[in-house]
Amino acid sequence: MRIADKAVLVTGANRGIGQALVHEALRRGARRVYAGTRGALPIADGRVTPLKLDVTSAEQIQRAVEEVGSLDVLINNAGIALYDDLNNPASLEQQLAVNLFGPFNVTRAFLPLLKRSKGAIVNNVSLVALAALPAVPGYSISKAAAFNMTQSLRALLAGEGVSVHAVVIGPTDTDMNRGFDIPKAPVQTTAQGICDGIENGEEDIFPDPASQSIAEGWRNGVAKVLERQFAGFVPETATNLG
Ligand SMILES: NC(=O)c1ccc[n+]([C@@H]2O[C@H](COP(=O)([O-])OP(=O)(O)OC[C@H]3O[C@@H](n4cnc5c(N)ncnc54)[C@H](OP(=O)(O)O)[C@@H]3O)[C@@H](O)[C@H]2O)c1
Repeated sequence: MRIADKAVLVTGANRGIGQALVHEALRRGARRVYAGTRGALPIADGRVTPLKLDVTSAEQIQRAVEEVGSLDVLINNAGIALYDDLNNPASLEQQLAVNLFGPFNVTRAFLPLLKRSKGAIVNNVSLVALAALPAVPGYSISKAAAFNMTQSLRALLAGEGVSVHAVVIGPTDTDMNRGFDIPKAPVQTTAQGICDGIENGEEDIFPDPASQSIAEGWRNGVAKVLERQFAGFVPETATNLG
């Protein structure tokens, strides 16, 4: 999958990693970049189409599908992280709504377009999808669930020629982790790593130095072996997806 001449949609594109992904897709020659945003979009480029897209709004998702004629790459990037301690069910629900049901519903809505183009779905998850970070347990649960969903979609859509990638992002310098005093990759590094992974056809993308340090262990690990074994159990109804 080359990004040049492709149509790419990035959710949560107005700041952070999403904004860097829009710039990186443009740099690689994307034909059109649809930039999902809830508010103003601080990017002015003739190849960028702003899309009003709160990923928790069924109505906005539907309107976005109608606006996007064809699509090659969907990047489910929008996300929230709340500092909680699992004492508040509403906090968990809110994070699941954005980080799990957001990509779930956006993906389902755009699947007909992606099947037509034999395109790619890219879900930005996190290192905390692989091991919980107790400072953000609700966020960890939501990313683990989104990662697991990515594995199922990968198997369910393989027969349709749609590739499904998980991005295991490590600490990256954005508003999301402003309070954490730890080494962080610049957003440009992470965005470049994500686009390299898409172009290299990597199932699981480790885009930054922290995530790269565990990439080999993951790819050769027991969880990956199990994923490949389980991927054989695809129901016949999988073709109904989208
Ligand atoms: N930064 C890291 O270290 C790190 C590490 C691992 C994974 N990630 C993941 O990478 C992705 C991007 O994170 P980031 O660091 O760039 O975060 P960020 O700077 O906080 O930006 C989050 C983006 O998501 C958008 N968003 C939040 N809720 C939304 C909703 N309901 N509908 C649509 N858009 C929504 C925000 O829009 P508004 O401006 O309207 O709020 C913003 O554009 C997230 O999925 C995050 O979990 C980040």
